[in-house]
Amino acid sequence: MSNHTARWPLPTHDYWSTPFAESLLQHLDLRPGLRILDVASGYGIPAFYLAEHIGPSGEVFAVDVSAGQVARARAIQGSQLPWLRFECMDMRFLPSNLATFDRVTGNLSVMFFRPNRFEAVRGLIERLHPGGQLVLTFPSHGTFDSLWQVVDRVMIQQRRIIERERFQTYLNERPSAQEGRGWLEKLDLERVEAIEYPLEVATGPGHEFLHHPLLRRGFLDDVFECFEDQSLAERFMTDIAHDITQFTPLIAHRCVLTGWKKI
Ligand SMILES: C[S@@+](CC[C@H](N)C(=O)[O-])C[C@H]1O[C@@H](n2cnc3c(N)ncnc32)[C@H](O)[C@@H]1O
Repeated sequence: MSNHTARWPLPTHDYWSTPFAESLLQHLDLRPGLRILDVASGYGIPAFYLAEHIGPSGEVFAVDVSAGQVARARAIQGSQLPWLRFECMDMRFLPSNLATFDRVTGNLSVMFFRPNRFEAVRGLIERLHPGGQLVLTFPSHGTFDSLWQVVDRVMIQQRRIIERERFQTYLNERPSAQEGRGWLEKLDLERVEAIEYPLEVATGPGHEFLHHPLLRRGFLDDVFECFEDQSLAERFMTDIAHDITQFTPLIAHRCVLTGWKKI
């Protein structure tokens, strides 16, 4: 914003959503008066920022499947920015009578497009007005590879065949930047880009790593799920966590996927 201080900046204490949102904003053509659909909106990163920047002549419609997240976002909003609306909706199955938008954004969204990511992206592009821009971010294939290499090596050493099969399936299932670019090209978008920026996630050893707020509720849980026996999984990961020098620096790939709908 030009001549007054922003009241809804991206939160500075969020070391995951905010860096992804910053890369999203770097690629988003954001102007006053736009109508924006923000999917997987969570509690409002970056919906509040977008709403402030488009101003009262625009509209932000933010959807999340979690009623809890929507309630949290609405509580933060109160009666402010009335041109921003949070609704509980599944972004993969948006109502067909929903209006079209000038922009569709989704920070940390693509990983939740399962099981058919291509169809989910197609659905979002249908909600885009001709000439409009789609900008999505996600941690792309390659994220935390240094850690996965250690996990894989130890699984081989310990002959954990079933766990390793599951683990490989999980790794291969993660969408890559190239795959994302392919979807947008196939769906006939113009000026398609899939750009990756590195993001280092800092951690200490042992407990700090195993209970890292970012890793434990997502990435590490996926490894635990490869094990039938959770106490075995705990021992397996505790051993790995002793020596974090094997896999640090821990680097995520922040992927920004963007393209424009033809007029
Ligand atoms: C990693 S969070 C990102 C939230 C926010 N955009 C941010 O950057 O902090 C992912 C969000 O996607 C939501 N989500 C998952 N599956 C969804 C779906 N099918 N439709 C809409 N939202 C979904 C979750 O409830 C969660 O709030």
